[in-house]
Amino acid sequence: MQIGKYFIYTYGCQMNVHESEKIAGILKKRGYESAEKPEDADIIVYNTCCIRESAEQRAMGNIGNAKPLKKKNPNLIVAVCGCMPQQKNVESMLKKKFPFINIIFGANNVEYFGEYLDLYLQQRKYRSFILEDQNYQAGNEKIDIIRDNMLSAYVNITYGCNNFCTYCIVPYVRGREISRPKEDIIQEVKNLIEIGKYKVITLLGQNVNSYGNDFKDKSVTFPKLLEEIANLDGDFEIRFMSSHPKDFSDELIDVIARNKKVSRAVHLPIQSGSNKILKLMNRNYTREKYLAIVEKLRAKIPDITLSTDIIVGFPNETEEDFNETVSLVKEVKFTNAFIFMYSKRKGTLAEKMPNQVPIDIKRQRIHNLLEIQKQITNDYFDNLIGKVQKRVLIEEEKATQFIGKTDCGKVVKLKKNDKTSVGDFVDVLIIDYSGGNLYGEVE
Ligand code: SAH
Ligand code: SF4
Ligand code: F3S
Repeated sequence: MQIGKYFIYTYGCQMNVHESEKIAGILKKRGYESAEKPEDADIIVYNTCCIRESAEQRAMGNIGNAKPLKKKNPNLIVAVCGCMPQQKNVESMLKKKFPFINIIFGANNVEYFGEYLDLYLQQRKYRSFILEDQNYQAGNEKIDIIRDNMLSAYVNITYGCNNFCTYCIVPYVRGREISRPKEDIIQEVKNLIEIGKYKVITLLGQNVNSYGNDFKDKSVTFPKLLEEIANLDGDFEIRFMSSHPKDFSDELIDVIARNKKVSRAVHLPIQSGSNKILKLMNRNYTREKYLAIVEKLRAKIPDITLSTDIIVGFPNETEEDFNETVSLVKEVKFTNAFIFMYSKRKGTLAEKMPNQVPIDIKRQRIHNLLEIQKQITNDYFDNLIGKVQKRVLIEEEKATQFIGKTDCGKVVKLKKNDKTSVGDFVDVLIIDYSGGNLYGEVE
């Protein structure tokens, strides 16, 4: 029986995307169906992010839009969750600013949303539920996860973060790092593969390389987990996000190299090319160590592609420091770089640092670096013309084309043929690159 419709807004990282899939599962179980637009919904959930000020502003803008909807439909339930309300005093600020909110809960207790909703429906009274630490218990994944993507599935391997990079709010809002028991992860992956439709499994953690650090059994590590998953039967690809350079081991490089099911696209956030800034960021590696990992990866896995995250305008970043980031970007030649202006986060160590960089300098630096990266990305894809890209996943079938994705996540438009269908991995001859798209033919 359908009792209403839901609409979920999701902001932030893959972790949040996956948690929205859990929220959808909880709502479906209670008889709600997905609405196409918020105007049609009986419950709207805002799954928020607070990694940068801009992310918070985006969420707040949209929460504000619920006010007229609530006027039209007084029974509309408005729930706000995710990382934003995990911050100190933010729950009360949100409720004050948006008095029409009915439920607020934190990122650490998503799996209890069903119970919170049931309580609200009984009492029709505003309540908030925020837990300081992750409340992960073995078995919480029994929630029916409603995965949006038809071919690709996220699987949690760790929750929280212990790294305390000085700019970052995540350890404060997501609590201490907890690894999920290996048996649970393997079972979930097996179930996904058995369904047959999932071709890409993405293992999620703030730093997958520290998987197992909190276990007594020190033989359970990320490289071992990755290899065990790669050895499962079935034609699928494994990815992982994110990987911290401080503990990206030789063993991990070897596991990627010898397991063809592991994606050759590695996301390895550098943040800055300056050792002085890396130290102030508490990243625990140097530019030299990072470059050594890149060199080893390229030597052992020639078809590897690298993407990264970069922050410009961190406190004390001089023109010289910034130029070191530029030179690193030019040296490594990432296929993709996510570049951000440093955003002050309350309660972090960097918030209190002297020599904050003025906004106009941050803007200038991000503009310069984006231009440089754009050129590198374009050159990379231009160079693919005439070459074969291995293991392109066919994601969609249109009237005259297939839409595929390369290992590094680039869309490639393909001429249709009778032998290929959605969900296949195919080798593709690249024939053109224009307007930001690759064009090719199935080999
Ligand atoms: N755990 C992941 C990153 C999660 S946040 C990792 O360490 O790789 C994603 C990215 O947001 C970070 O890599 C960083 O580049 C950026 N970021 C985090 N805090 C930020 C801040 N205060 N200002 C600007 N960018 C930030
Ligand atoms: Fe934030 Fe650093 Fe943890 Fe990533 S590793 S979530 S950047 S503290
Ligand atoms: Fe944002 Fe929380 Fe992810 S702050 S980036 S949604 S862990």
